[in-house]
Amino acid sequence: MIIHGFFVLALVCSISLALQDDISSESKKAEQLYIKLFKRQRAEQLDAIKNFQKVSNGKNERKSMLQLMSEKIFQVIQKSRASIESSPFIPGISEFPLDRDIQDLLSNILENTALFSEIVLRFPDIAASLLKSNNEWNITLQWSIAFCNQMKYLLDSSTIKLLSLASQELNYIPRDPDFLNPYRKDKKPQVTLGDLKSIKKKKKKIIKKGPRLSTHVEL
Ligand SMILES: *[C@@H]1O[C@H](CO)[C@@H](O)[C@H](O)[C@H]1NC(C)=O
Repeated sequence: MIIHGFFVLALVCSISLALQDDISSESKKAEQLYIKLFKRQRAEQLDAIKNFQKVSNGKNERKSMLQLMSEKIFQVIQKSRASIESSPFIPGISEFPLDRDIQDLLSNILENTALFSEIVLRFPDIAASLLKSNNEWNITLQWSIAFCNQMKYLLDSSTIKLLSLASQELNYIPRDPDFLNPYRKDKKPQVTLGDLKSIKKKKKKIIKKGPRLSTHVEL
């Protein structure tokens, strides 16, 4: 009886192990396919954004179109974030999901984060002003870039670079000493957040000295 039970148990274990292997290799296959499709999707996205750069003219027109695009982008990211966080999928831990719905949520987040990162690099001043007036977007973007970084294995190297440059442009992460936004028209070295802070400090010091001097004079 005990031996019989043992056999059954061993059998069940080996079946479930085999099943897991199957799922694992299926997941690997699906992952490879996803990587290919994502790359293609990004190429199309790049064409679209280059087209937008060509056809949109005038800063105001660009800004209002980018405002509309951003509204859509962040709406999708925020909705997908809520859904993926209530799904069994855990970024950085779960295997590539076979569930199509979860794959779609992943695509929504990865593609829209990449798209907004393109906007950040190509239209840095407009993007900064949009983020400044929509703090929720700024917070969402930091979350979604971190999410993409956890899913790096699905991204091609140019998308990984894009995310890193956008994070530096927005000072989410410290800028590399040789950081350069390749799309900025003036290729002069840029003022970093650190520089700005030290300029502000210097200004404050000068202001503080002023009144003291005048009190001294009054005495
Ligand atoms: C975005 O948020 C960070 C803090 O999380 C802040 O330092 C930065 O100034 C914000 N960016 C904009 C454009 O408002």
